[in-house]
Amino acid sequence: MDMKLILNIHYLGGLDTSGRRWAAGADMQRFEVMENTWLYIEDGRIRDYGSMLSETWRELAQRPGMKIIDAVGGSVFPAFCDSHTHLVYAGSREKEYVDKIRGLSYEEIFRRGGGILHSARRLHEASEDQLLAEALPRLEEIRQYGTGAVEIKSGYGLTTEDELKMLRVIRRLKEQSPLALRATFLGAHAVPLEYKGRQQEYVDLVINEMIPKVVDEGLADFIDVFCDQGFFTPEETARILEAGARYGLRPKLHANELGYSGGIQIGVKYAALSVDHLEYTADEEIEALKGSSTMPTILPGAAFFLNLVHAPARKMIDAGLPVAFASDFNPGSSPSGNMQLILSMACIQYRLLPEEAFNAVTLNTAYAMGLENELGTISQGKKANLILTHPIPSIEFMPYAFGSNKVKTTLLDGVEY
Ligand code: NIG
Ligand code: FE
Repeated sequence: MDMKLILNIHYLGGLDTSGRRWAAGADMQRFEVMENTWLYIEDGRIRDYGSMLSETWRELAQRPGMKIIDAVGGSVFPAFCDSHTHLVYAGSREKEYVDKIRGLSYEEIFRRGGGILHSARRLHEASEDQLLAEALPRLEEIRQYGTGAVEIKSGYGLTTEDELKMLRVIRRLKEQSPLALRATFLGAHAVPLEYKGRQQEYVDLVINEMIPKVVDEGLADFIDVFCDQGFFTPEETARILEAGARYGLRPKLHANELGYSGGIQIGVKYAALSVDHLEYTADEEIEALKGSSTMPTILPGAAFFLNLVHAPARKMIDAGLPVAFASDFNPGSSPSGNMQLILSMACIQYRLLPEEAFNAVTLNTAYAMGLENELGTISQGKKANLILTHPIPSIEFMPYAFGSNKVKTTLLDGVEY
């Protein structure tokens, strides 16, 4: 049996004994913290925790084989769950970034054959091994910033072969990485140039060829569609989601980033696990989300990088909804997977209280990738995917001190990295 005891934890945050699957509305402020504590891990799972002032930990510390980790006044939180990324890609797109500074919009760049289509060309030229070699350091980097679980999408393939190639790379990452990984099939990310003016035929290809092959190889946990202005319509999205549902794939959607696309309503209708981006969310969309099992997910990295309007996170929470925040790590609209920065942006730009923001990047994102029973809170029996910080004066210091890395060690399944 593998046993570890972390001692001298200043703040142990994110405790939950209620078994809630997500935090919504006023409950988002409930982020329980205990001071001056120890945490006991057995075979990669959280077994117990308590106060350093009680004697329990001394008995544990004396057990033969116990590995002691001294937190020396650092704090422990659930590792971040990043429920939306595109971190398998080839090359980078800083030239387009400069074009944007000069005044071109994301959609204009796409219409010129850049953007997602640029990444698709680069991905087509790269081998599986090259893609894997590029993605592994990205996973290592986000791990250093405290991410313990990540969802990765396909969508730079846009042909059956290249979509399968991308998903096979994600499968190899699952085998090689200590992070908890989930794969999402995003064949309907953009219409490739060869299908220009024949969008329906591309949708047919996604439905009739890609989905069956992806499922046949067991390569995807979820299905996604870029349901937005200039990309896929709600009707096309509905057709693709119906096909996905026949194969048992639950949706997670790109919705309402570029306009009131109807994507949120379609997501709710097809019981999407999450709808993501949400810059264009009005009362109607908020009403549609109420009472659903769909997690509204905001991606502040993309809104920052593309200078978009901000999704009305405060309004959603005040309306009783849950809200999750993820990185959207990708080469075109958010070339960073730093979840500590996302935590800060949630507070600074979206006016979440630090407690709400913590829930938004841990429990709520765990839910948005179907991992809320295993991750996202400090609870007995859950996996020990944790961050151990350098000493910090308060939990609010985490979002406050934006830009520096406060994480000293990440523990994944109880193993220190
Ligand atoms: O989530 N919005 C659509 N897709 C990605 C961007 C992908 C890209 O530009 O490469 C996003 O922002
Ligand atoms: Fe995205």
